[in-house]
Amino acid sequence: MKGIILAGGNGTRLQPLTFAGSKQLAPVYDKPMIYYPLSVLMLAGVRDILIVTRPNDLPAFQTLLSDGRQLGLNIDYATQDEPRGIADAFLVGADHIRGEQCALILGDNLFHGANLPTLLRRSALKMGGCVLFGQEVADPERYGVAEIDPRGELVSIEEKPRHPRSNLAIPGIYFFDAQVSDIARDLEPSARGELEITDVLRVYLKMGTAELVWLGRGVTWLDTGTHESLLEAGAFVRDTQRRQGIRLGCIEEIAMHMGYIEPDDCRALGAGMGNSPYGEYVMERARLCSAGVLPPLPSEGL
Ligand code: DAU
Repeated sequence: MKGIILAGGNGTRLQPLTFAGSKQLAPVYDKPMIYYPLSVLMLAGVRDILIVTRPNDLPAFQTLLSDGRQLGLNIDYATQDEPRGIADAFLVGADHIRGEQCALILGDNLFHGANLPTLLRRSALKMGGCVLFGQEVADPERYGVAEIDPRGELVSIEEKPRHPRSNLAIPGIYFFDAQVSDIARDLEPSARGELEITDVLRVYLKMGTAELVWLGRGVTWLDTGTHESLLEAGAFVRDTQRRQGIRLGCIEEIAMHMGYIEPDDCRALGAGMGNSPYGEYVMERARLCSAGVLPPLPSEGL
């Protein structure tokens, strides 16, 4: 399975922070925002990843992640010159996903939860056409919204409805079969001028091949589109890390746990970060892994 991280857009709600740099490189506590969605794809077993950015931001992403080999990944880049909508990712990324299934994650969405990797992997493996996720929220009008009937069947999908039919928001991670670029090619821009991801999902719903999977209470989902939510996400990461003594979204540790790199490689990555607490953590996790003290994660890829 191929992966796409959508990390373009003008980040207008975060200006002036986003005038000179990408929102998805802004810090969420101790690491750049993109580490979090990248972690999720890695934990789902996705190793062949396209990052879509604004043209001006491309060099910064390349400096940060290069070709991904240091993490046992293959990372490619593509640019989106205008924010034409989330579904434009399938046109910009058509060559990358050609003929394969694909996971799309939005570069400003953060997920955390012990059962998340298993949930994602299971959902992807049994996918018919597409998989979308649902989580109950207090403010569904800010998101794509899924409606289910009394039997639990998905019956409608709407983008930011003024009067939501449910409180089930659709987070920014999705799995699609190989048809998705063809479907995106046939879309018309919405009233706000964008190729909407919810329109893609609706095509699958009409075909009877869209599956909704609930993200249960055990999964935390945050987005970081406003100054307030960015600060809240940073506080969540800081508080969780402080309480548990582990780091969230630590791509070096995940690469090692997934068996993408060896503990020695992980240690070297940590050593390359000078004496930062993050670098020290990465080295310590490598040491614990070598000593056989860290629980292994499943390493088969999707
Ligand atoms: O966060 C989940 C929500 O994300 C979903 O529930 C909605 O259905 C979906 O439309 C989306 O809503 P947002 O209003 O949050 O989307 P936003 O325009 O903020 O874009 C999300 C991310 O995608 C953001 O990091 C910027 C990036 N993006 C967006 C567009 C429209 C691009 O890279 N290119 C684009 O053309």
